[in-house]
Amino acid sequence: MSQQTDIIKKRYDRIAPYFDRIEGMMETMMFGDLRARIWQQVQGDKILEVGVGTGKNFPYYPADKSYTAIDFSPAMLQQAQKKNEQLALGIDLAVMDVQQLDFPDNHFDCVIGTFLFCSVPDPELGLQELKRVCKPAGQVLLLEHVLSSHKIIAAMMHMLNPIVVRLVGANINRQTVKTIQACGFDSVAVLPGSSHLVKLIRAIK
Ligand SMILES: C[S@@+](CC[C@H](N)C(=O)[O-])C[C@H]1O[C@@H](n2cnc3c(N)ncnc32)[C@H](O)[C@@H]1O
Repeated sequence: MSQQTDIIKKRYDRIAPYFDRIEGMMETMMFGDLRARIWQQVQGDKILEVGVGTGKNFPYYPADKSYTAIDFSPAMLQQAQKKNEQLALGIDLAVMDVQQLDFPDNHFDCVIGTFLFCSVPDPELGLQELKRVCKPAGQVLLLEHVLSSHKIIAAMMHMLNPIVVRLVGANINRQTVKTIQACGFDSVAVLPGSSHLVKLIRAIK
């Protein structure tokens, strides 16, 4: 694990017990029904969620599918495991770095991540891993906050980024749509419901 990866992992380990409360207000104000929208896109039976965090997406998981979920922070996964047990979901949870997934090639029908690539130290490496473990013609679905397309807001985001990274380990100035477009998927689409700050992305392998 690189030094940068270890630093970010420790930040998430530290905030894990408070994560849901820290994000609570922002979640309602900014993200609205976006989680529901991205999860409605899921197709196939064998699903991988990457960067599962505390398991905030569990209520949106479509029924009757087989789920594996990973995160590199054991403390975040511990929170997810509590929800997994309370709701008797039977999700297979594992500590794993998205930059080096321990799954064979072409293994999942659909790979999905929400608000993950803001904090992955090498996002291109992580996105290539999602593509590798996804079956041909399968989909990679992402819900990500990105650098605003409004110039003044973007300038402020660049300015504030070092502080946010230091506090919570997340970058607010990533251009994840461009990064995934450079990964060689068959197609990449930005879906309805996206804004200048938050993008719903579907990539087909
Ligand atoms: C902002 S949180 C989002 C959590 C969850 N997806 C959600 O929507 O609430 C980012 C999550 O990604 C995880 N993460 C960041 N980099 C990772 C990596 N390289 N491999 C696996 N998980 C990672 C963090 O531990 C954290 O749980």
